Amino acid sequence: MIDNLKARQVLKKYIEKYDFSNPRIKLKAAHIYRVADVSKQIATELKLTKEQIDLAELIGLLHDIGRFEQLRIYDTFSDRESINHAEMGVKVLKENNFIKEFCNDEKYYDIIFTSILNHNKYKIDETLKGETLLQSKIIRDADKIDILNLLVFESFETLFKKKEIINEPITEKVLSTMLEGKQIERKYQKTSMDDWASNLGYIYDINFKPSFKILKEKGYADKIIDRTPTPEMEEIRKYINKYIDEKIAD
Ligand SMILES: [Fe+2]
Repeated sequence: MIDNLKARQVLKKYIEKYDFSNPRIKLKAAHIYRVADVSKQIATELKLTKEQIDLAELIGLLHDIGRFEQLRIYDTFSDRESINHAEMGVKVLKENNFIKEFCNDEKYYDIIFTSILNHNKYKIDETLKGETLLQSKIIRDADKIDILNLLVFESFETLFKKKEIINEPITEKVLSTMLEGKQIERKYQKTSMDDWASNLGYIYDINFKPSFKILKEKGYADKIIDRTPTPEMEEIRKYINKYIDEKIAD
């Protein structure tokens, strides 16, 4: 049986050890709880069983547990400049069987670890099947939805360690790829505006209709673009909003 109230208590105790004067620690702590809520919402709207909904929420709670060690050691969210935070998360959970404090039923462990390892991949592992595939898709959607949410309000200082990014160009390759409805590979992201615009590309990898409905209802894409209303971003706005509408109508 999954007891998410207990899992939340264990997580809270774990997170409290970290330095909350660091805005990036604060950001990730808040992100985790919101992702767990969104995962639960998606699973509920997909009309899954109570057990599946509980598992989706638990994976939401655990998916970024590796962020805290990443930030403590490297003080960056950039996996490229540090370590893969999903692998770090699984390592933290496996060490001294820490996972058992969150959930004592071992039958879920493989699904939990695989979903965590897949949550931050550019593309989901195509060999996944059944419940593992389903849960991996849910955490990928929920995580992306909340990343888009936090990009609406977090300062550029916290996100990029810069006061402003709007004066940087969007590289042509990034813009053209965005307007083809494709995600941007990291190697093409040269400027902070490239990174910023590429976040909107997450929308092209969203799996479920309930997820698109949340995006539309919250207006995240519009609000992100409103922060950097350049002509290129306005082009992206038109394309993305049409894409979301089509996915909902589908
Ligand atoms: Fe993550």
